[in-house]
Amino acid sequence: MNARVLTPPNPNDGRQFLAPVFAQYPLEIDHAEGVWLYTRAGERILDLYGGHAVAALGYGHPGWTRALTEQAKACNFQSNAVPMDVRSRAAERLIRFSGLNLSSVFFVNSGAEANENALKMAFRMNTGRTHVAAIEHSFHGRTAAVGALTWGALQKWYGLPRTPFDVSFIPRRDVAAIAQHVTENTAAVIVEPVQGLAGAFDLGAPFLAALRKRCDEVGAALIFDEVQCGMGRTGHPFAANLYGIAPDMVTTAKALGNGFPCAALLMSPKVAAAVKLDALGTTYGGGPMACAAIEAVIEAIESEQLLERVQRVSKYIRETCIVGPVLGHQGAGHLTGLRTSRPAKEVHAELLEQRILAGTSGDPNVLRLLPPYVLEEEHVDLLRDALASIEP
Ligand SMILES: Cc1ncc(COP(=O)(O)O)c(C=O)c1O
Repeated sequence: MNARVLTPPNPNDGRQFLAPVFAQYPLEIDHAEGVWLYTRAGERILDLYGGHAVAALGYGHPGWTRALTEQAKACNFQSNAVPMDVRSRAAERLIRFSGLNLSSVFFVNSGAEANENALKMAFRMNTGRTHVAAIEHSFHGRTAAVGALTWGALQKWYGLPRTPFDVSFIPRRDVAAIAQHVTENTAAVIVEPVQGLAGAFDLGAPFLAALRKRCDEVGAALIFDEVQCGMGRTGHPFAANLYGIAPDMVTTAKALGNGFPCAALLMSPKVAAAVKLDALGTTYGGGPMACAAIEAVIEAIESEQLLERVQRVSKYIRETCIVGPVLGHQGAGHLTGLRTSRPAKEVHAELLEQRILAGTSGDPNVLRLLPPYVLEEEHVDLLRDALASIEP
């Protein structure tokens, strides 16, 4: 047997009871530490994908693990109806971390839910309007409203008879096209400043600034969907900081909890002023375990200078990994797209044979890297050597 080939997963592990909604990687993880995944057979795999951009601190981070353990012992759950110090602390910490003109947080459970609530606020502030603009190739989630704003979803998987409002898609980086899509009937524009699933596609400051300007002209809300690109992934708290744009709302999730499910909608003072009692709700959102995880993530990013590390190591990836089948790079920070001469799926499979887990994307020629922020140059050297050994 080829020593490189990973031990296949046990076929009798009960997976037939799981709905077959995801194609599965041919590996079975037993445990993980730092940037390493370990299979049941004891093989070690470098994780450059982080479970769809979630494992920002990697695995077994001591501060995060301690925070969750202590919160589980202290009080595992109370809803938003009961004030809890840990919730207030997490909200304050998140607002301060953002460094943006945002003043209020609504904690929810998933990226889609954060986006749905952002849209609700936009319609509340723009009564009578019926239209939302998104950007071509965007991904905003799988629920009714944000599925309607996800490029290609209606044809591929939407599954509902009609969308809840009118939708149009602006071509990427096309400043001239904005005015025709964003009008006095537009309640909101929603945009991933660095598109994730599309293949780490950076929309750039001029396009984002033009969206801001047009939203101001017509009174539409500008929503930055930073579910994937936020919480330090670009080497800045949010991509809004990187591009110097002030959105009305920012949504975030994934890295926010480092694997404890949680998400947040951050609002500007003007949006926050439009929130009425009982207007938004959730059972689990803002639960103490989630808030303990959020606090621990921000504490680690700040005390371990992880933003600086993301900037440094992601630059090293861009400088050293344009080898073998890789022709160039795109994206920002640790949301990296490596443009490949061959289908990215093939390169992905060959990397996995060499015990490196990367990601693919909506672009068939872009390999997507979403590594933990604790990644070091020595790990990138392993990727470079593996890529160099792959046929261009
Ligand atoms: C940019 C973006 N928005 C929204 C979502 C949806 O998040 P969730 O799967 O937590 O609902 C995702 C998930 O991949 C995403 O990448």
